[in-house]
Amino acid sequence: MIDHTTLQSIFTEIDLSAAPPQTEPERQYWFLKKSREYVTEEANRLGRPLTACTVTFGCQMNSRDSEKLAGILQEAGYTLTQSEEADFVIYNTCTVRDSANQRVYGRLGFLNSMKKKNPHKRIALCGCMMQEPSVVEKIKQSYGFVDLIFGTHNLFAFPELICRMFENRRMVIEVRTAEERIVEDLPVERKYPFKSGINIMFGCNNFCSYCIVPYVRGRERSRKPQEILSEIRHLSQDGVTEIMLLGQNVNSYGKNLDEPMSFAQLLSQAEQIPGIERIRFMTSHPKDLSPELIRVMRDSAKICRHLHLPLQSGSTRILREMNRRYTKEEYLALVDRIRDAIPDISLTTDLIVGFPGETAQDVEETIDVIRRAKFDNAFTFLYSRRTGTPAAAMENQIPKQEAQKHFDLVLAVVQETAKTQVARFLGQRQKALVEEVNGQNPAFVTGRLSHNIMVHFPGDPSLVGRIVEVKLTENHGFYFIGEKI
Ligand code: SAH
Ligand code: SF4
Ligand code: F3S
Repeated sequence: MIDHTTLQSIFTEIDLSAAPPQTEPERQYWFLKKSREYVTEEANRLGRPLTACTVTFGCQMNSRDSEKLAGILQEAGYTLTQSEEADFVIYNTCTVRDSANQRVYGRLGFLNSMKKKNPHKRIALCGCMMQEPSVVEKIKQSYGFVDLIFGTHNLFAFPELICRMFENRRMVIEVRTAEERIVEDLPVERKYPFKSGINIMFGCNNFCSYCIVPYVRGRERSRKPQEILSEIRHLSQDGVTEIMLLGQNVNSYGKNLDEPMSFAQLLSQAEQIPGIERIRFMTSHPKDLSPELIRVMRDSAKICRHLHLPLQSGSTRILREMNRRYTKEEYLALVDRIRDAIPDISLTTDLIVGFPGETAQDVEETIDVIRRAKFDNAFTFLYSRRTGTPAAAMENQIPKQEAQKHFDLVLAVVQETAKTQVARFLGQRQKALVEEVNGQNPAFVTGRLSHNIMVHFPGDPSLVGRIVEVKLTENHGFYFIGEKI
């Protein structure tokens, strides 16, 4: 992360008539200055500022990446907007399920119709979907109006790619298959002033048999603790009170560092940073959630009372086929250990229904775990066949109709369990970080409890970004209505 003022002073030293440096991030600073020239020239020609809009699909990792894109766009001289009418629209895509891909294709048609009306409009596609050669091929064939395509490994080179886009009339495509480096110190523009995600690691080594993430995000790489902690310190100075440490499997953080460090140790150090009041993390793989982590959570005043612990399936047989490396019993025993240490914790999970070979009996096992683990919430997904993953090649794929029937059964139990679970907070006083003015009723604001449950209560916009105490007066299943104390 680098701030605007530091970057401005770096710009004054950069000579654009010399060749761009070969080292990173210096090379990108050079291209950022260059891209400012292109953006300014075009803005002068049009007699108005150029606007840019990023649209994010997928997970928190992608949201954080979009903040990096936004930071670069802003420093390149674009005015950021929420509207896809913008002069430059960037879709940061997800490919974890086919539905995510279909959404992108659907919206591209709509972007094309806007581009016909605004000939200066430029369109970029990046993110996980672009790491799939078949996707890039399809876009080349059928969506020729796209100006720029890049992948997850060269997001840091966005300034350079913006320049190439301005210099070329044809589609610029730059997708790398791997990247060992972690390029630090690029600009970031946060969506929320008071909370922020922080990447602690990139990629994934787990190869769950259904999952495409390891193929599109590459091998696991941890950021150095000094870089992470210094970023958190900067964020704190900039007014951030809630942070979320991000990785596909935070529990294996630090294993491949020159000086190995555990995730629990990183959390303990993050906790020391003044100004940070809440710490969250995503995602924890059950197979390597350590007793040390449970202890650190238990003893912490800042780590939120929430753990997202993806189960995927409650059937040991299916878990083995999924390559998850835990059994139903091991998962339940882990839940017991967590609840023993932190009795009021909220547990949430991810579930996949319709994995190849899944029977009604397997689905019963999943339902059994939902009831016994008492999840506060669960994201339930229909299995999606991802080309190139081992599960896609399995013979016993489940017909859509049968999977849907099982999905509905699971969802009903998830909703029933969530409602009963969440009820334990009714009438309590809890602290909430106010995130926004309520979308439906402007006399209300919306806050998030440490337990990751939302509460809506009467309040004015000045509360946004503050942690306030609320009484939870009405249980609506996944959220509460409350009143400020
Ligand atoms: N790294 C995280 C998950 C990232 S993907 C973890 O292991 O917990 C988020 C969720 O998408 C997964 O937990 C899983 O439930 C779901 N998912 C992944 N691949 C899927 C597929 N092929 N079909 C349906 N859901 C899938
Ligand atoms: Fe996918 Fe498994 Fe890695 Fe999560 S841990 S990203 S589900 S391969
Ligand atoms: Fe999707 Fe990529 Fe995240 S595939 S879920 S955006 S890591």
